[in-house]
Amino acid sequence: MIKDRLEQIGSNPLKEIFYFRGEGTVNLAVGEPDFSPPTSVLDTLRELKGSEVHRYGDPQGLMALRSAILEFMDDAPDHFDEGNVVITCGATEALASSILAHFDPGDELLIPDPGFILFNALPTVFNITPITYPLHFDNGFEIDVNDLESMLTERTRGILLNYPSNPTGAVLGEDKVRAVLEFAEEHDLKVISDEVYHRFVYDADHSSPLSRYHGVIHVNSFSKTFALTGWRLGFTMAERELIDPIKIVHQYLVTSPSTILQHAAVQALTSSGNYLRSFVEEMRWRRDYAHQRLTEMGLDTLSPAGAFYAFPSVKDLGGDSLKISKHLIEHGVLTAPGVAFGPGGEGHIRISFAASRDSLEAGLDAMENGLRELR
Ligand SMILES: Cc1ncc(COP(=O)(O)O)c(C=O)c1O
Repeated sequence: MIKDRLEQIGSNPLKEIFYFRGEGTVNLAVGEPDFSPPTSVLDTLRELKGSEVHRYGDPQGLMALRSAILEFMDDAPDHFDEGNVVITCGATEALASSILAHFDPGDELLIPDPGFILFNALPTVFNITPITYPLHFDNGFEIDVNDLESMLTERTRGILLNYPSNPTGAVLGEDKVRAVLEFAEEHDLKVISDEVYHRFVYDADHSSPLSRYHGVIHVNSFSKTFALTGWRLGFTMAERELIDPIKIVHQYLVTSPSTILQHAAVQALTSSGNYLRSFVEEMRWRRDYAHQRLTEMGLDTLSPAGAFYAFPSVKDLGGDSLKISKHLIEHGVLTAPGVAFGPGGEGHIRISFAASRDSLEAGLDAMENGLRELR
């Protein structure tokens, strides 16, 4: 029953941490940039007038916005046109529509462990079986095709990738992308590739699987790239035979995303070069700062190559991530317990460095004090 499945999801430990959100605590648990959206986008929004921006829009999304996405996304295959893109209500709806359109109840979808909470929640709600594949700290949290082989059953229909990764900050190296796509092609699997952090890459190039395999459904968002989390705008791109069913599900779910916001979002894609450069440089600074502080605290931690998250190990401190996160609340800082991202996240805590420099410093100071007591 759906009610039982919802109960199973509702017990995520992150709920216990967010309950304490409020006065007096620094929030390093939430993955929301403190940046303001580009000024030109907000100006455009203020200036938009006329009935066409207040009415229902094309269910597939504003044509001008789909065109701008194709220009903006270097990884879009050359043969893609506006018909290969659907504008969605955030990456959340892009994931939901993609899963609903391409998987039947009882199908198995391989998802990362640790991985973003929705990757387990959405298939579970739809009665599609999420099967976790492990990501190992020692392996830089990159996917290993050898692990996948043993998970295949006759019900396996797809694999979900998320690079740059939430919660680990890992980016997928070129050889790994190739190996995973060969594996997917060999076993006729669809690949849902969540790349909402694609612009936040610090050390290596991010290579999108999109143009490499015809079975890829690319999921992306305006939330992180332009600090527009509340606008609920995202998009998905795929070959026509994959995007067409997504378009239909999406239309029945939401009709279309907000028309006026889509008009303003065109501006984000066409005139935000400088904004993005300084945003990413600031995140790089925070990444380096957070990594240095965590290392000085004696935590075993990788330098995140992408996204906004550090995922240090707390195994030396007993490894119970929820207990440690709760203890840190008493010291004034919210962190996300790794176990919230699946059993493979246990023994880690997630620190978001999307918080402002001041908050990051205050939060890491509080963390340092709190951890000292546990040693
Ligand atoms: C990996 C990942 N995918 C999807 C989302 C959801 O993004 P949106 O705000 O566009 O729905 C998030 C949000 O944190 C995320 O981290």
